[in-house]
Amino acid sequence: MLNDFDTIIERRSTYASKWQVNEGELPLSIADMDFKCSKKIRDAIQRRLDNGIFGYTDVPDAWYEAYMYWWEKRHNFKIAKDWLMFCTGVVPAISSTVRKITTPAEKVVVLTPVYNIFFNSIYNNGRYINECKLKEIDGRYEIDFIDLEEKLKDPQTTLLIFCNPHNPIGKIYTKEELAKVGELCAKHHVTVLSDEIHCDLVDPGEHYIPFASVDDTCKYNSITCVAPSKAFNLAGLQSSAIIIPNKDLYHKINRAINTDEIAEPNAFAIDATIAAFKESEGWLDELRAYVYENKCYIRDYIAHNIPELKVLDSKATYLLWIDTRALGHDAGYISEYIRKTSGLILSDGDHYRGNGYDYLRMNTAYPKKIIAEAMTRLKKSIETLKEEDHEKNN
Ligand SMILES: Cc1ncc(COP(=O)(O)O)c(C=O)c1O
Repeated sequence: MLNDFDTIIERRSTYASKWQVNEGELPLSIADMDFKCSKKIRDAIQRRLDNGIFGYTDVPDAWYEAYMYWWEKRHNFKIAKDWLMFCTGVVPAISSTVRKITTPAEKVVVLTPVYNIFFNSIYNNGRYINECKLKEIDGRYEIDFIDLEEKLKDPQTTLLIFCNPHNPIGKIYTKEELAKVGELCAKHHVTVLSDEIHCDLVDPGEHYIPFASVDDTCKYNSITCVAPSKAFNLAGLQSSAIIIPNKDLYHKINRAINTDEIAEPNAFAIDATIAAFKESEGWLDELRAYVYENKCYIRDYIAHNIPELKVLDSKATYLLWIDTRALGHDAGYISEYIRKTSGLILSDGDHYRGNGYDYLRMNTAYPKKIIAEAMTRLKKSIETLKEEDHEKNN
């Protein structure tokens, strides 16, 4: 490997959200990575820093070209320049879309368990969450299309927030699934917001399909949110893009993000984004291989040492979704117990709704030494939990 993913980097002193925890605790929680971003990105930021003036910044042609180049090369999807707009993040884009496309008290459909901040974007804006629960069959999640159509045909439903690939379950949707979602939404006049922020983090050999690339129905009824922030570890730089091929929809969302004042980049966002998509492909492929090894190691370790936990199959994201049902407690109890007994912090799956109360979410984007330490802590905590339960029951 040309890039170093093994070195442990101290993050507490940078106010990293994930690391604002007690001394000795190990957070495998919030979805950013404990790896330095690519040298090309760091160089681009350094050049910008050396200029020393951090005034207002426009979005140059090179920014549009970087997205067009990347999506065609990596995802076989030709994006036109006038489908694209800059936004200061995917979550700001989602909240702004909720406000523009729906009116208060209308319903927004989400397929759960899903990224919990979707619920905030809906609820905080006075809209209702219309939850369509994914069906879990033998460790694989499927869309319940009958239930989805029921939710979509509710006259109060005006928007679907879709996650492709899907956080936290790591599912990559097939073309057939995407086409069916697109067809049902168009049939019931529901706009689709497809959050594709995790799309570049698929396992080696896997491919994601952009929702808008599926067919004209999907293309002209969708708002797609993408960003370099997950794959290239730039979340703190607040840089994303919205892709909208439908001109009327484009105009609406463009007005929305300008009204909300989330359409202008900070001084580093543009250079970092261009360096990511134009110069960091090799880094990304090495990162994906490294994360994949971590995922395999964890799966293997848990299967051999903590058989009460079951790691679900994940084809995308650096997140693993772990079934805790065999322990006989809900995941909220288990995550608190693990934190208390070993300091390891995993996310309680209940935050993501659906059947998440029986799952833990684990971030695997760490140097291997940290992952090994996390496994030791997890094993110790689960052993103690079982011993305590045994004593209580006998
Ligand atoms: C599905 C999904 N969307 C959006 C975000 C956050 O996006 P941003 O930081 O650009 O607001 C995350 C972060 O975990 C995510 O998992």
